[in-house]
Amino acid sequence: MTVAVELLGPVVVRVDGAPADLGVRARALLARLALDPGRVVSVDALVDALWDGAPPAAPANALQAVVSRVRRAVPGLPLAARAPGYLLDLPRDAVDACRLEDLATTDPAAAEALWRGEPLADLRDLAFTAAPAARWAELRLVAAERRLAGAGAAQLPELDRLVAEHPLREGLVALRVLALHRAGRTTDALAAHEQTRRRLAEELGLDPGPALRAAQLAVLREEEPERPVLRTALTSFRGRVAELDLVADRLAGGRLVTLLGPGGAGKTRLALEVAHQREASTSDGVWWVELAPVGEPRQLPAAVLTAVGQRTATTLERVPTVVEAGARLREVFASRRGLLVLDNCEHLVDAVARLTDDLLTACPGLVVLTTSREALGIPGEALVPVGPLPVPDADDPGAADADVVRLFADRARSADPSFAVTPATLPLLLEVCRRLDGMPLALELAAARLRTLGLAQIAARLDDRFALLTGGSRVALPRQQTLRA
Ligand SMILES: Nc1ncnc2c1ncn2[C@@H]1O[C@H](COP(=O)(O)OP(=O)(O)OP(=O)(O)O)[C@@H](O)[C@H]1O
Ligand SMILES: [Mg+2]
Repeated sequence: MTVAVELLGPVVVRVDGAPADLGVRARALLARLALDPGRVVSVDALVDALWDGAPPAAPANALQAVVSRVRRAVPGLPLAARAPGYLLDLPRDAVDACRLEDLATTDPAAAEALWRGEPLADLRDLAFTAAPAARWAELRLVAAERRLAGAGAAQLPELDRLVAEHPLREGLVALRVLALHRAGRTTDALAAHEQTRRRLAEELGLDPGPALRAAQLAVLREEEPERPVLRTALTSFRGRVAELDLVADRLAGGRLVTLLGPGGAGKTRLALEVAHQREASTSDGVWWVELAPVGEPRQLPAAVLTAVGQRTATTLERVPTVVEAGARLREVFASRRGLLVLDNCEHLVDAVARLTDDLLTACPGLVVLTTSREALGIPGEALVPVGPLPVPDADDPGAADADVVRLFADRARSADPSFAVTPATLPLLLEVCRRLDGMPLALELAAARLRTLGLAQIAARLDDRFALLTGGSRVALPRQQTLRA
C-alpha cells in the first residue's frame, strides 16, 4: 500500500492513488504530522494544532479519539504512537510539500507542477497552517524565478501576471525588465525598472537591490550578446556513454559538476560533448572558458569575462581588477540561464573554487561544469571520474568494436590511410592500448607515429613509451605534445 499526503491545495490523503474519506480534524492531524514526516510530533503540539489554543477537557483522550478515527478510515496507515506523541512514518517523497522543498531550485518546473492551489486551503482557520503555507508560497515563487531565468518575449505574459501579483518582488521585476529588453522593448524595460524603483522608495523607503540594479545596468549597457559559438571538434568522439549519462544526471540534480581525472584522460573532450548536447537540446546559454593559458589566479575573473564576450562591453578601458571583474560576472549571469564550462582548472583550483562558489550563490540560473586534475572541494560539487578507456582482452568477441580500438583506428587512419583493424592486427593493437593504459591522449600520440613506424615497431618500442610519444601531432596544445607536459 502506498500513502501520499498532498498539502499544496486542500489536504488530500491518497491510499494507492485513491483519496481517503476523512473528517476535518483527521485531515488536520495528518497535515500536522506530514509537516514532519518520519519524526515524532508531541501530543502538546498536536493538540495545539488541532484545537488552536482552545483544547477540549481531556485533550490527550480527544487526540487519541481522532487517531483512532484516522486508523479506522485508513487501515494500515503508518501512524504510530511514540513517546512523547505520534509519528507518521512516511518518506519525504510521499508528501508533496517536502518534494516542493527538495525540488524548488533543482527542478523548478517539477516543483511548480505540484501546486494545486492555496496550500492547506481547507484548514486555513487553524493557526499552525499559516507559517508553512507562507513558506511554500515563497518556494513556489523561487521555483518560478529559477525557471524564468533568461526569459524573453514568450514568457512576458506570465511575467506580467506574476509582477502584477507581486509588484515589489525584485527578482521577478528584474526578470521582467530583462525580458522586455530582450523582446526589443528597451524603453518599456527602463520604465518598468523606474516604476518599481519609485514604489520601493515611496512605500518602503528602500533603494533597488542587486538583482534589480544589475538588470537596469544590463539594459543600459545594451548587452544581451549573441551566444558565443562552441568550437567544433575536428576528430571523432568515442565511448563515454556512462559518463555522459552521469554528467546529465548530476547537472539535473545539482549545479556543479567536476570532470576529474589524470592528464590526457579525455576530460576536456567529454566536457565539449556535454556542452554541444546541451546547446542542441536547450535554449540555455553555453559558455566555454579555456583556462589553460591563464597563468595567474588573479587573472581568472577577467579571463572568464573575456571568454563570455563581456570584456568589450565594459566601460573599463584598463584590465578590470579581481573585484570589479567578479562583480561584473555576477551581473552578467544574475539573470541568465545556462551552462558555464571552466576547462582545465587544475593550476587555479583555489581561485576557480572561490569564483564558482560566488557565482553559483549569486546566479540561480547558472550551472557550472569544470574539468580538472584536482577537485574544487566546495559544497555541492559532484565529481565525475574520467579514467582510461577500458581495454578488452584479445579473446573478447566484441574487442574489435571496443571504444579504445575505434579511437586508435580513427587516429591511425589519419596518419596512415591504409590502416585497418583485422584479426591479424587486432591483438597487437590491443597490446598497444593496454601498454598505454587506455589513455586517449597516449593512444592518439602513438597512432600519430604510424606515419613513420609500423604497429609492430610501435608495440616493440613502447617500453620507452615517453620517448616514443614525444613529437607527433603538431597542432596538439603545447601542454599535451608529450606526456611529460
Ligand atoms: N572519448 C574520446 N573520443 C575521442 N577522442 C578522445 C576521447 N577522449 C579524449 N580524446 C582525445 O584525447 C586527447 C586528450 O583528451 P583531453 O584533452 O580531453 O584530455 P584531458 O583529460 O582534458 O587532459 P588534461 O588534463 O591534460 O587537460 C584529445 O586529443 C582528445 O580529443
Ligand atoms: Mg583538458
